[in-house]
Amino acid sequence: MRVDEKSKDQQLAKDRAEPTGNFLTTDQGIRVEHTDDSLKIGARGPTLLEDFHFREKITRFDHERIPERVVHARGAGAHGYFQVYESQAKYTRAKFLQDPSKKTPVFVRFSTVAGSRGSADTARDVRGFAVKFYTEEGNFDLVGNNIPVFFIQDGIKFPDIIHAAKPEPHHEIPQAQTAHDSFWDFVSLVPETMHMIMWIMSDRAIPRSFRMMQGFGVHTFRFIDEKNTARFVKFHWKPLLGTHSLVWDEAQKLGGKDPDFHRRDLYEAIEQGDFPEYELGVQILEEKDAQALGVDLLDATKLIPEEVAPVQPVGKLTLNRNPTNFFAETEQVAFCVANIVPGIDFTDDPLMQARLFSYLDTQLTRLGGPNFAEIPINRPVAPVHNHQQDGFGRHTSNVGRANYFPNSLGGGCPFLAAQQQGGYVHHPEQVSGKKVRERAASFNDHYSQAALFFRSLSEPEQQHLIDACRFELGKVETKAIQERVLEHFAKIDALLVSAVAEGLGLPAPKATPVTPKGPPASKALS
Ligand code: HEM
Repeated sequence: MRVDEKSKDQQLAKDRAEPTGNFLTTDQGIRVEHTDDSLKIGARGPTLLEDFHFREKITRFDHERIPERVVHARGAGAHGYFQVYESQAKYTRAKFLQDPSKKTPVFVRFSTVAGSRGSADTARDVRGFAVKFYTEEGNFDLVGNNIPVFFIQDGIKFPDIIHAAKPEPHHEIPQAQTAHDSFWDFVSLVPETMHMIMWIMSDRAIPRSFRMMQGFGVHTFRFIDEKNTARFVKFHWKPLLGTHSLVWDEAQKLGGKDPDFHRRDLYEAIEQGDFPEYELGVQILEEKDAQALGVDLLDATKLIPEEVAPVQPVGKLTLNRNPTNFFAETEQVAFCVANIVPGIDFTDDPLMQARLFSYLDTQLTRLGGPNFAEIPINRPVAPVHNHQQDGFGRHTSNVGRANYFPNSLGGGCPFLAAQQQGGYVHHPEQVSGKKVRERAASFNDHYSQAALFFRSLSEPEQQHLIDACRFELGKVETKAIQERVLEHFAKIDALLVSAVAEGLGLPAPKATPVTPKGPPASKALS
């Protein structure tokens, strides 16, 4: 089957409702006389229960809201397409990465993490950068962020970091900010957060526009080629407009004057034909070279320096169409790290492993049951054949009497064809070890890359980071928390700790900065 850029739009078009110029009807297709008065006994009398139009209209309204995402609730989406520059067959057999003439349809959702659906766009926060590729082999979701590392190393701590970062539970204050005791309490007690804290206090956490923001797959994935050779891969998105940030003062003012600043910018740019473009790049590492790296590839709080593995350009993403309906598309889209295609595979990164479970699990609640892959925005353009059936919101009528496998009665998936047509085969990784609840020692260095990042910044950028720490930590009421954070900063950089301590009016602990191993950070972070 040939998939091109238009195929997803054609699929979506089937579900578009165009009421303009048509009769108003109920959901059952019955024409409505008028919709301004309920059915009453006399013009001033009681409303009748038999008024099916009134009951349907109010009931539908009562149930319009679905739960917002537990994280990344606030977002904006766009359609587009992806095209490779040249075949990546030397690394992967993924079909959408082979043919430069082919345009693979995509849907992208950018988001903030901590704020609720109605929060302001310009808050200091990580930004989500989630891409759904509708490939002819099925959907591939690259569910990334605009920062290349993460707060924690094991997904079992995700509820803890998110509870700490969201508004405090007793009064829901503050909305969408990291300026409160519980966030910094967690950070002060979990030093693996330090590298990410440097990024989140930097200008990267207040992008000027979604169009001027990098994206990263964060985890190490695997590429698998035709000969089943596996290589490690990190995914990068670079905006062709360059990476630009707001300064904090701008971000705060915009947050008040135009809470939709980023959403509006993306929408208007696309409407005007000023299509946002991003280059996909990959860092490739041979499995045999991973040991010598000095950084554990399974640790999502670390990045791989570009001197070791340069970012190789792979292709371009163009966003050229706004959603027809925000709810149907941007709100109902369901990204999942586990949505993967042949030629790409996971690793044992314990953060990634938790994500492989979490997204589908949360979407079962958020999108009302197991059939959300049938919602038009989530439907693959690749054909779907299986014996899944029933459940809330089912659209598909399974045909035939055999709803099990294998079967000899027909009507289901042809037995032999399914076996012979090259299904997804997981990389046969050799694994052995004791069953333990432990963290690898190779995950232990929490300060080197934090220091590399801080020292890679220009003087004004360092000052912005220091000002952000002073502002955010300055809102913390518990002095012991501020002191614990300063102890960590002392291990990162002498200037950082003294300047932040001075801003907080606290004595600076003695600086004992690490001497980072590895290449100069400026190159590692371009
Ligand atoms: C949502 C990225 C870690 C659970 C999202 C979204 C993005 C994202 C971009 C928004 C998707 C959208 O636009 O609909 C990341 C990245 C992570 C990370 C880059 C770390 C590298 C985790 C972890 C967990 C998790 C460790 C859980 C163990 C969730 C959940 C949602 C979500 C439950 C909401 C999904 C939905 O309701 O559709 N994440 N996340 N994330 N993430 Fe993560």
